[in-house]
Amino acid sequence: MNSTALDIPSNLIQALRDVHHVAVLTGSGISAESGVPTFREAQTGLWSRFKPEDLATPEAFKRNPKLVWEWYAWRGELVSGAQPNAGHVALVEWQRRVPQFTLITQNVDGLHQRAGSGNVIELHGNIGRTKCFEENRIVEKWPETGEAPPRCPRCGGHLRPDVVWFGETLPVEALERAVAAARSCDLFLSIGTSTVVHPAASLPFEALEQGATVVEINPDSTPLTPHAHHVLRGPAGRVLPELVRHR
Ligand code: OAD
Repeated sequence: MNSTALDIPSNLIQALRDVHHVAVLTGSGISAESGVPTFREAQTGLWSRFKPEDLATPEAFKRNPKLVWEWYAWRGELVSGAQPNAGHVALVEWQRRVPQFTLITQNVDGLHQRAGSGNVIELHGNIGRTKCFEENRIVEKWPETGEAPPRCPRCGGHLRPDVVWFGETLPVEALERAVAAARSCDLFLSIGTSTVVHPAASLPFEALEQGATVVEINPDSTPLTPHAHHVLRGPAGRVLPELVRHR
């Protein structure tokens, strides 16, 4: 990818000017330029011997709660040291400029909110929250005993991050709002996601079915690429600020 201005087709520029409701789905690629490794790149270094399925399932947690807790603690530290990038900031600006804007994210890093985005629909939870594995309720404080994972102060069960693991259902209200937005928007952007993990991956296809213009922003191709109306190849931190200029 060179650093010259992005070639944005004129019909997309027109769609950006006319749009009433923009729905955006983001994946871990939007946080890559903040230094947070994407989900499928995160198995590096110390963690390279583990597949996501070995770390992000209820079964993995039951088998080895310490391993899973420590992996999320490592990711949580990375996230708290990271800053939102130009891609996150461009989405905040866009939200201000269009009548209706729905931001749906698969990310658990909270960087959209830290950039200033409001009403973010979090499909996969948030790494900054903790819940009880047994009771499935949010726990804000617990006694620090040095045990990993710590224990629920009410029932003594293990605590876990409030994120959605493989094999778990997504938060119902968040998913309903996301599907409703995909079905009613006139422009849908799929940004920095490999579009392989369902049900989030079906959202751009819902939008396509309802006649929305669908744009993919990703340096690589995904299962959505052949179906998208426009594919903008490049990092979100470069492409998004250019797109927003046209609104
Ligand atoms: P992935 O790691 O599967 O995909 C990241 C995508 O971002 C890839 O398609 C990259 O090409 C793209 N990418 C990398 N750098 C980028 C950049 N600077 N700008 C734009 N795109 C870039 O991450 P997700 O699609 O988010 O779920 O993964 C979806 C879900 O799978 C995650 O939420 C997680 C995981 O299982 C759960 O934990 C339930």
